[in-house]
Amino acid sequence: MDKISVLLIGGGNIAHILLNELGHRIRKSYYHDLRKTDLEATFLESFLIPEVTDIVVECAGINAVKQHGIEAIKAGKDLYIISSGAFSDPKFPTELLNHLKSSTSKVFVPSGAIGGLDIIRAVRTRISSVRLIMTKPPSSLGYKERFSEPQVVFEGRVEKAIERFPQNVNVAVTLLLAVGESAKVTVKVVVDPTIDRNTHEVEVKSSAGDYKIVHENKPSPNPKTSYLAALSLASCINRRFDRLVVGG
Ligand SMILES: NC(=O)c1ccc[n+]([C@@H]2O[C@H](COP(=O)([O-])OP(=O)(O)OC[C@H]3O[C@@H](n4cnc5c(N)ncnc54)[C@H](O)[C@@H]3O)[C@@H](O)[C@H]2O)c1
Repeated sequence: MDKISVLLIGGGNIAHILLNELGHRIRKSYYHDLRKTDLEATFLESFLIPEVTDIVVECAGINAVKQHGIEAIKAGKDLYIISSGAFSDPKFPTELLNHLKSSTSKVFVPSGAIGGLDIIRAVRTRISSVRLIMTKPPSSLGYKERFSEPQVVFEGRVEKAIERFPQNVNVAVTLLLAVGESAKVTVKVVVDPTIDRNTHEVEVKSSAGDYKIVHENKPSPNPKTSYLAALSLASCINRRFDRLVVGG
């Protein structure tokens, strides 16, 4: 395979980074968005999948996954989902898995804004606990009051964390999908008035070893999205071309 044709769902920030990163791999690119953007690709006002499309790539948001993800599977296309929070919907994952049973399509959920999922996959059956520690300045968690020192504002099950801090749903759900058992995953949220950048720490305890991954992500042009999220999606797509596959 030398080049592919892609249909992007969403023509915003991640789509721009993606086309920039994958340009030399792409034969033809289309995008569907709620509005026409300045993306250098053919705009599709309605979600119709051109026959020539090899892959469908969601970079729009959780609702877009729920609206169009199944259509991509029905059309026999591989689907890349960056808004992994869609898997926290009570119905969507079951519906998706049911359609996959009678399809040759594959669904890829890239690591997004976190790393270490290769370790988690490798030791998955030996994991005793995984903890996600998010440390953020008060404003990025929506706090208006002043904090004089770092303070833990939440510690508990991942499902509750998603309810309380929905802006972090993608990272938490990707982690949950990788671990596979929500009872083993806890989330701690720390508000720190002395920092201006979010950090995510992932602590894994397993019988194969203990691991701690610290992420200090830089934002992309859309400040809500880490650069790493877009680059990880591009890297995941790029792996389709690898003849020598390094890393799990
Ligand atoms: N997995 C992760 O770690 C991670 C990290 C960051 C962002 N994300 C996801 O990536 C998404 C896109 O990020 P971005 O920085 O490109 O955002 P963006 O706002 O720059 O671009 C999103 C584009 O999608 C379009 N859109 C929104 N809903 C749509 C729908 N239902 N159908 C079609 N188009 C729709 C918007 O009009 C916009 O042009 C975010 O919403 C988030 O869910 C995931």
